[in-house]
Amino acid sequence: MRYFPFLLILVLCACCSRNNEVYAEQTGRTLVAYYSYTGNVRSIVDELTKQISADVVEIKPAEEGLKYEENNYAIGSALISAIRQNPNNAESYPAIKPLDIDFEKYDNIVIATPLWWSNMAAPMQTFLFENGKGMDGKNIGLIVSSASSGIQSVVADAERLIPNGDFSDEPLWINNSNRNQMPTLLSNWIKTLNFSNNMDEKLYITIGNTTLTATMVDNVATQALATALKESPISYEATDYGNFEKVGPLGRSLPTANEQTTTQAGDIVLYNGNQIVIFYGSNSWSYTRIGKIDNVTQSELQTILGEGNCTITLSLSVENTTENQGNNEPSTDIPTIKNNDSNSPKYDLQGRRIDTLEKGQIYIQNGEKRLNLN
Ligand SMILES: Cc1cc2nc3c(=O)[nH]c(=O)nc-3n(C[C@H](O)[C@H](O)[C@H](O)COP(=O)(O)O)c2cc1C
Repeated sequence: MRYFPFLLILVLCACCSRNNEVYAEQTGRTLVAYYSYTGNVRSIVDELTKQISADVVEIKPAEEGLKYEENNYAIGSALISAIRQNPNNAESYPAIKPLDIDFEKYDNIVIATPLWWSNMAAPMQTFLFENGKGMDGKNIGLIVSSASSGIQSVVADAERLIPNGDFSDEPLWINNSNRNQMPTLLSNWIKTLNFSNNMDEKLYITIGNTTLTATMVDNVATQALATALKESPISYEATDYGNFEKVGPLGRSLPTANEQTTTQAGDIVLYNGNQIVIFYGSNSWSYTRIGKIDNVTQSELQTILGEGNCTITLSLSVENTTENQGNNEPSTDIPTIKNNDSNSPKYDLQGRRIDTLEKGQIYIQNGEKRLNLN
């Protein structure tokens, strides 16, 4: 009976009617890198960061006090000419003040830059020449401010300097004739971005003696779930269904954002608004996505979930699981829950050496199985 078609629930898509403030809570791990000479880009960034949450870095030329506009823009023009003539040579780019950015922290990067002589302003080109390769696979949004010139060459500069960035389709062009509509232009542009909408908060899932972490997507259901879990962890009895999932009643209803989904092992979804499903196999149905379990293979997950019924506890921190309340020792078969505290090599559960740990990743160090909390 479970999977018989049921009344299609028309969900008013909250995403479509998000106002700016709500949206601001929903972007995460975003970096805005900007350069501004006369302040136009700075005011765009000030408005942008009212609408999305993001870390901001300002690119500054190493040499202070240059007047790029003097002598009919002689300095600015010379800087752009040097880059055009020799774009692969580091010496073509004017020095900028050093920045220490951990790009690993960010999924999404906004580049906000003025246009100079149809190209990207030279100091921003330097920043991207030095850092664009660290942006491989990141979601990139581009904002260009000019007086009136079109921005095609700036887009080409960005694509040359961030060769493996995942660019959003629409760059935002703000110029002298539309500058007074900047807040609206920004809020419309934000909706076009391909930015990751994962929640910063991790979901902890305790099954028997094992605690796994999951990355939650950001939607109406996970927001309601996170609010409930802030009050207290939720435990439920889960049963096997269809040889591909463990499903159980959450004991409450969450708002839904159902969409036709083909699941994979590790996916967590909301079924029927009130049941949590963890997949160790695949199924296609209209579900509301909750998230995905981090760093676990299908066979590991099947082993952890076991056969038959099991009790599953959801919480927002490992210390907070029902089993651990009043007890400082986390209940888990990971013997040590602690930060990486030594330089000894780390290995994943398949014995492969790990150079960079992800938050929530289970790893083995000095023969101990650990969970990276950083
Ligand atoms: C060196 C230099 C060259 C510029 N070249 C152009 C240009 O070719 N076309 C244009 O429309 N605006 C040009 N501008 C104007 C800037 O693109 C525009 O004023 C922009 O909004 C400045 O951003 P900012 O105030 O953040 O520095 C130039 C400005 C400078 C300083």
